Amino acid sequence: MENNIPAHVGIIMDGNGRWAKQRGLVRTQGHLEGLKAAKRIVKAASESGIKYLTLYAFSTENWKRAEEEVGFIMGLVKQYLRAEFDFSRQNRIRVRHAGDFSGLPPDIQKEISDSIADTAGFDGMQVILAINYGGRDEIIRAVRKFTAANKAGENISEQDICAYLDNPDVPDPDMIIRSAGEYRTSNFLLWESAYSEMYISDKLWPDWDKEDLAAAIANFQKRERRYGGIATR
Ligand code: FPP
Repeated sequence: MENNIPAHVGIIMDGNGRWAKQRGLVRTQGHLEGLKAAKRIVKAASESGIKYLTLYAFSTENWKRAEEEVGFIMGLVKQYLRAEFDFSRQNRIRVRHAGDFSGLPPDIQKEISDSIADTAGFDGMQVILAINYGGRDEIIRAVRKFTAANKAGENISEQDICAYLDNPDVPDPDMIIRSAGEYRTSNFLLWESAYSEMYISDKLWPDWDKEDLAAAIANFQKRERRYGGIATR
């Protein structure tokens, strides 16, 4: 690993609502600022040598929110995908998706597929947008895909599940970052995060900047990863 920079970082971008509330603003304003933070962090991550960045933008549970908020977040996803193409081209960023694609509204599906196709040839950092994503849902879909392709599932192995996850070629995340101080995984990359280092920051997501990512990476570099084994130093 180049200077021990985590190859794959996943981020639970939490605290947009609280950020807005603290300022007497509507929740959607928090999401708008959250999108700006996401752009700053994509840039910083790409500059720091991270190879894969998974952003938890919308969970399978987020549909429970008010229709207005759901619509607003979907609008931001669209806006991000459209407006960031120049940035993606300049920085050779490849956009990908994780989650239940078929459960997304057709217009969002189209934006996502177009971005994936337009950036497919770029060899820089890969930004994986987790939209309509749930870790349990991903595992269920993987098992269903496996059994559909292999008929019987009695001898299903770890490798079989891995092969049918949403992005089987992407390595497991080395670090999962969560902003806004909650100590939960909230159904994010459940299978893939088995040995991920967790980094929890009290800072609300809209306040995140490149220094916060740098602090998370520096913290990661001090960790000793044992993967269930014993200390090697
Ligand atoms: C969690 O904060 C945030 C979300 C559910 C939405 C995240 C979406 C974005 C930042 C915009 C889209 C991003 C991209 C990259 C396309 P919360 O609302 O749960 O905050 P709270 O816990 O303080 O209420």
